Amino acid sequence: MITRFLIEPGYVNLAYVLASVLFILGLKGLTHPRTAVRGNRLGALGMFVAAVATLAAKGLAFEYILAGVVLGALIGAIAAVKVEMTAMPQMVALFNGFGGIASIFVAGAAFLVAQASGDALGMQIVIATAASGLIGAVTFWGSLIAYSKLQGLSIIPDGQVSYPGQKFVNLVVFLASIAAAVWLVLDPSNTAAYWVLCAIASLLGVLLVIAIGGADMPVVIALLNSYSGLAAAATGFVLSNTVLIIAGSLVGASGIILTNIMCVAMNRSLANVLFGVFETGEVASADEVYGGKVKSASPDEVAMLFDSVQHAVVVPGYGMAVAQAQHIVRDLANLLEERGCRVDFGIHPVAGRMPGHMNVLLAEADVPYDKLKEMDAINSEMDQVDVCMVIGANDVVNPMARTDPGCPIAGMPIIDVDKARTVVIVKRSLSPGFAGIPNPLFAMDNTLMMFGDGKAAIQELVTALKEG
Ligand code: TAP
Repeated sequence: MITRFLIEPGYVNLAYVLASVLFILGLKGLTHPRTAVRGNRLGALGMFVAAVATLAAKGLAFEYILAGVVLGALIGAIAAVKVEMTAMPQMVALFNGFGGIASIFVAGAAFLVAQASGDALGMQIVIATAASGLIGAVTFWGSLIAYSKLQGLSIIPDGQVSYPGQKFVNLVVFLASIAAAVWLVLDPSNTAAYWVLCAIASLLGVLLVIAIGGADMPVVIALLNSYSGLAAAATGFVLSNTVLIIAGSLVGASGIILTNIMCVAMNRSLANVLFGVFETGEVASADEVYGGKVKSASPDEVAMLFDSVQHAVVVPGYGMAVAQAQHIVRDLANLLEERGCRVDFGIHPVAGRMPGHMNVLLAEADVPYDKLKEMDAINSEMDQVDVCMVIGANDVVNPMARTDPGCPIAGMPIIDVDKARTVVIVKRSLSPGFAGIPNPLFAMDNTLMMFGDGKAAIQELVTALKEG
């Protein structure tokens, strides 16, 4: 038997206010690792309240609401449980993309229903539909390209794709998408205009994101996140749904704030990332950089180095996430502290593959928050540090960013580990990081390479320290 719910508009609005308050409290919780889990739960509860109130208000069958909620929750839960921590950025990129395509279809469907009613369409609905289609399509296709790049799928090159006249082509496609949006606004009875707009905006999404590569991907992921919110907010105007407008605006605004933080971390302006098509020059080859200059050390030798160390700094990177070495790294830090050595963690804002990646891993391993030092704070005392251990980080400690204006990470602020008295690098080989360039740090006089998988190598070091 199908049960029909129809709740009073007053109660629906009350549920929307409750959901909005839960979203805001959720975002507040997400600003600190200590409260992040609670924040996440509050946000999820807000979304549950909003979804149920919206569907019940429309008088949809309760069983269908429940089926949708259960199916969505199941897919989300399986994806979240199964995803490797290192593949989290790709999942976020995909989910952003789903938000974009949902906006295209929901706004499109509402538009078709409004057209079919035969009433004249208000300007708000038409402009909001155009905005949903445009931003939603850019978000969906841009996110798929970002997913492909982060996942290393061979259909799209990992780095930036550039060709002569690229900026001009992008500008033409951008103007064409605006023209299609104007066409739709001027002729709202024309359904084809909406789908033409979505098609051109899809091309724009692909072209904008294939042009971005190397170290600029963090900015793009944050920006696509913001776009998915803006598309949802626009759809909220199409449906006259206040909670969608509020939730979309919150995602849009927080995504833009994150984009700005990422731009500052990369020392790039947003316009430069989006339209600059970074000109990279010739970068020295690995043979030129490393040729006969790299010194390696075993965990036993590195353990001896720690005998007289007063201040050590750990700089983690993507490799620590791959190796899942955060727990053994915490054990190493505790052991050194028991022996009277001060240990800090230097966190680069774009270390890993998603904003806050290192903070999440170290919080999971119960490393105290006051041990995590931001880049500027740790750089100011780096010349006083006895040993700096770089665990699976590469681009974020690459001095080429300071010295080589033609390299893909030129101008990006780095953690100045080369200024420590001794640098120990833990990684499996001399392979490059995300930006694909060699790292002169590995060949410096004060650097020792401790080759191996992050978890296994640190485990051996801990054993050697305990036995020593
Ligand atoms: P990367 O420069 O990517 O270097 C990671 C290093 O980890 C590699 O050189 C690799 O060397 C090593 N590694 C891999 N598996 C390992 C294992 N099991 N044990 C030990 N080492 C291992 O990392 P990073 O320094 O963290 O820099 C991040 C880069 O990603 C930046 O270029 C950044 O722009 C980009 N990016 C960041 C984000 C965000 S939002 N954080 C998003 C997209 C892209 P081996 O293979 O020799 O071991």
